[in-house]
Amino acid sequence: MPDSTRLDQTPEWAALAKHRDELGETHLRDLFADDPGRAERYTVQVGDLFIDYAKHLVTDETLGLLRDLAAARGVAELRDAMFRGDKINVTERRAVLHTALRAPRDAVIEVDGENVEPAVHAVLDKMAAFAEAVRSGAWTGATGKRIRTVVNIGIGGSDLGPAMAYEALLPFTQRDLGICFVSNVDGADLHEATRDLDPAETLFIVASKTFTTIETITNAHSARAWLVEGMGGDESAVAKHFVALSTNADEVAKFGIDTANMFEFWDWVGGRYSYDSAIGLSLMIAIGPDGFREMLDGFRLVDEHFRTAPPEANAPLLLGLLGIWYGNFFGAQSHAVLPYSHYMAKFPAYLQQLDMESNGKSVDRSGHPVRWQTGPVVWGTPGTNGQHAYYQLLHQGTKVIPADLIGFARPVAELSPRLAAQHDLLMANLFAQAQALAFGKTAGEVAAEGVPAEQVPHRTFRGNKPTTTILADQLSPSVLGQLVALYEHKVFVQGAIWDIDSFDQWGVELGKVLAKRIEPALTSGETVPGLDTSTADLVARYRTLRDR
Ligand code: F6P
Repeated sequence: MPDSTRLDQTPEWAALAKHRDELGETHLRDLFADDPGRAERYTVQVGDLFIDYAKHLVTDETLGLLRDLAAARGVAELRDAMFRGDKINVTERRAVLHTALRAPRDAVIEVDGENVEPAVHAVLDKMAAFAEAVRSGAWTGATGKRIRTVVNIGIGGSDLGPAMAYEALLPFTQRDLGICFVSNVDGADLHEATRDLDPAETLFIVASKTFTTIETITNAHSARAWLVEGMGGDESAVAKHFVALSTNADEVAKFGIDTANMFEFWDWVGGRYSYDSAIGLSLMIAIGPDGFREMLDGFRLVDEHFRTAPPEANAPLLLGLLGIWYGNFFGAQSHAVLPYSHYMAKFPAYLQQLDMESNGKSVDRSGHPVRWQTGPVVWGTPGTNGQHAYYQLLHQGTKVIPADLIGFARPVAELSPRLAAQHDLLMANLFAQAQALAFGKTAGEVAAEGVPAEQVPHRTFRGNKPTTTILADQLSPSVLGQLVALYEHKVFVQGAIWDIDSFDQWGVELGKVLAKRIEPALTSGETVPGLDTSTADLVARYRTLRDR
């Protein structure tokens, strides 16, 4: 007797599997030919984002069955529980309230009976005052010089969000104020970031939710040493050159940063969902408090859409379901995100943490092994560059790789007329790729061009490669917020359907523990118990090579 609580034993799953069989090798060429209204119908507008999903291997029936699955799995109920502040992060017994970070000042969202909004807005206000002071030069270093460079030290969610958004929004930044990001415990990262800096003009932001992350704390100590040395040994300079972003005031104080210079957030903000919290301070300094608030408005717009739009027109729901369709019924293992924007180069890396740390799980919320595929490998680089590298595999390889192509109608305002004119060529590439991937080129079409017979199979494109095109007017703080929220909620939808906890990350723990255990073997040559022979040999070889 099937267990109807198990995803793959639900009638909705069975209906999708049957439908997948019936769809067989149906080609997008046929889907378009049979349904003239398809291109118009398979679109959704959310705020500034126009989302075209016509080039997917779906019919009205597919979409209906996918929505039935979402309904049966209680996606809407879990969504409402998240927005309400219920502790849906079951393994850590925490609320999941990144949406509260962009809720309006007068909203009431409670965790353990306490409204979190006053604290959220108090921190935003404190950040704004500090950001303005740094931007204007009112906040100076210990010698009275104005701050010229801000160095954010953090890793994972305490790095990727602000680093991605800073680059995405470069044209909106105060250009005479440099912001750089140090994450890697490889000393080269901090070295390269600081080598040309004047300590007297440098502000370090130590960003760490826990304030115990070894990479960040190690780099922060090194930065502190660099600063104090550069300031002639003046320890008191730290107060004017270090601020902290954290949930852990005790550890911040232990490190030696005055907690008056700490910007707080809370355990109900997941690291990978945190860049619109205090973790975004570097970004706020770069784009200014108004730009930051505009970005939060963009997030909120999509939050409201996700919360209230009907399933047929709910963009995050739709994108989540399309991912389920390919991952669970076509065997797709990965998902490409291909921005046609130089400024969006770090967006795929940001999404890697958002998606893979959230949904890279193999037990369900009760701890039972899942028997279905969960989160995909997310990858990508700016589209045009990829076209001359790995798109070959997208077009003619053997794998199913759904892709999102993201583009903008207008280039950023500051480009010269000549460079702005290149934008049409950039976007022509986006549209061409989506078309080529979907419709391909048949052997008949290739042969008709006079191609020698032996080359025809090599120059044929099967097509039928699914893509979503996301088009917005122009990249702006609000549009970036909208895009990030869209993906956050897409990831949520998928986790809800797979019945996994998208908000914990136990999978990163083992490596951290082992690194701590192995380190003394490297530094002081201690014999570390429990090393397997391969690792022990590698450690020994490393020491020999290092000490030669
Ligand atoms: O190790 C993974 C992780 O915990 C991420 O989830 C987090 O974003 C990152 O490390 C950094 O953590 P923290 O902000 O506590 O330094």
